[in-house]
Amino acid sequence: MSDTLKIYRFPDPVLRIKAAPVENIDGELQQFIDGMTETMYKAPGIGLAAIQVGKPISLVVYDISPPEESHKINVIMNPEIVSREGSITYEEACLSVFDYSAEVKRSNKILVKAIDREGKPIEIEAEGLHAVCLQHEIDHLNGVLFIDHISSLKRSLYKSRLKKILSKEQ
Ligand code: NI
Repeated sequence: MSDTLKIYRFPDPVLRIKAAPVENIDGELQQFIDGMTETMYKAPGIGLAAIQVGKPISLVVYDISPPEESHKINVIMNPEIVSREGSITYEEACLSVFDYSAEVKRSNKILVKAIDREGKPIEIEAEGLHAVCLQHEIDHLNGVLFIDHISSLKRSLYKSRLKKILSKEQ
């Protein structure tokens, strides 16, 4: 049983750090993966990148299985999108973007090369929500948030609303 980790939120500059490849797969990393998994389910969310909990390494956990089904955690490291096809518009939200969702256009079908939590090379063919989730999480590894994909007008409206919320919190 591990403690849940602190999730960093926009506009924290931590979220802009580019992730370094995972090189050392050891017990400490496995423990960190378990902590991320628990943090994601508790939030609750369907995906979490390591940088969202302050660790700039190329690691993502996600679970897009429907809520009525049992949990099935996926762990990918050093992912790379090697091909894309078609487009899909999906209403996205993020554990690091407080109280906001917006439609984002992405590729509908992607092929991802990565390694699993044991370091074994894997290929993932993803379509629809699965592809959206992977593109959103892989963006995090490059310091990109879904709000970077919306119009600058929408983004500035959100920023000013967030400013008001944050000033009330203090
Ligand atoms: Ni996110």
